[in-house]
Amino acid sequence: MAKIPAVGLGTWKASPGEATEAVKVAIDAGYRHFDCAYLYHNENEIGAGIRQKIKEGVVRREDLFVVSKLWCTYHEPSLVKVACKKSLKALKLDYLDLYLMHWPMGFQPGEEDVPLDLCGVVIPSDTSFLKTWEAMEDLVIKGLVKDIGVSNFNHEQLESLLNKPDLKFKPITNQIECHPYLTQKNLISFCKARDVSVTAYRPLGGSREGTDLLNNPTIRRIANHYNKSCAQILIRFQIQRDLIVIPKSTNPKRIQENIQVFDFELTENHMDEIMSLNKNLRLATFPTTESHKDYPFHIDF
Ligand code: A2P
Repeated sequence: MAKIPAVGLGTWKASPGEATEAVKVAIDAGYRHFDCAYLYHNENEIGAGIRQKIKEGVVRREDLFVVSKLWCTYHEPSLVKVACKKSLKALKLDYLDLYLMHWPMGFQPGEEDVPLDLCGVVIPSDTSFLKTWEAMEDLVIKGLVKDIGVSNFNHEQLESLLNKPDLKFKPITNQIECHPYLTQKNLISFCKARDVSVTAYRPLGGSREGTDLLNNPTIRRIANHYNKSCAQILIRFQIQRDLIVIPKSTNPKRIQENIQVFDFELTENHMDEIMSLNKNLRLATFPTTESHKDYPFHIDF
């Protein structure tokens, strides 16, 4: 199992017009881990950036850790390889380092990413994530992906996967929303106890009032103390919890800033202070899917 670089570039909401340049800037700044997904509709442009940097001789393919995710409309076992090949083609790669099940929920296959009924509720597929996982295991066997993992799984869902009697490959990570307003203490302890790493998405929080961590007075004070930015504190906080963290940016200065987090260490007191900001505030709630049988957030963790 490969080691996942602790900081990766998040690419959700990186517009196709910005993604190629962002990846090139990131590789020059030292990023080797790229967190992508079919859903983000920018893998083609990300692939162009990766290809160019390989061509220039700045990096080799084997130096990079490229992640993509299986979207929910591809959970039918017969569609899993189709989806993976689409991402590989767009990224212009012949293997992925890691392929994640983006959500435990399967949706009706088709053109729509989130197929809705007339009431605005998602139309599920009758797949089970355990069966979808078996098709993902086949991707490892066929050499299309080096490792597989999950995202947005609650502890019960992860446990049922880990307890699957004929499990061939364990999920190497659970990628979950995680920041000081949603510290995920219990789910992280569970993952660690089962030897599953945790990748923190949305590490910088939200932009609406009450969700905005970049303007939180405690984070600001701690940032001033270390002469670092608030974003750097939020990223460093996750690294010291032994999490992998994938801040998104398409701004060259901020891309560089977000990986300059290995030259200082937060004290235990500062870590505790940041932990105490928790208010179990989930930003990625995916409300149209709340009635899905596999909706992950009806239970506490
Ligand atoms: P931008 O791409 O313009 O830099 P998250 O990864 O937690 O979802 O955060 C992503 C959001 O935070 C994006 O809006 C991104 O905007 C912004 N962002 C990323 N890095 C920084 C930073 N160092 N300082 C301030 N905002 C940032």
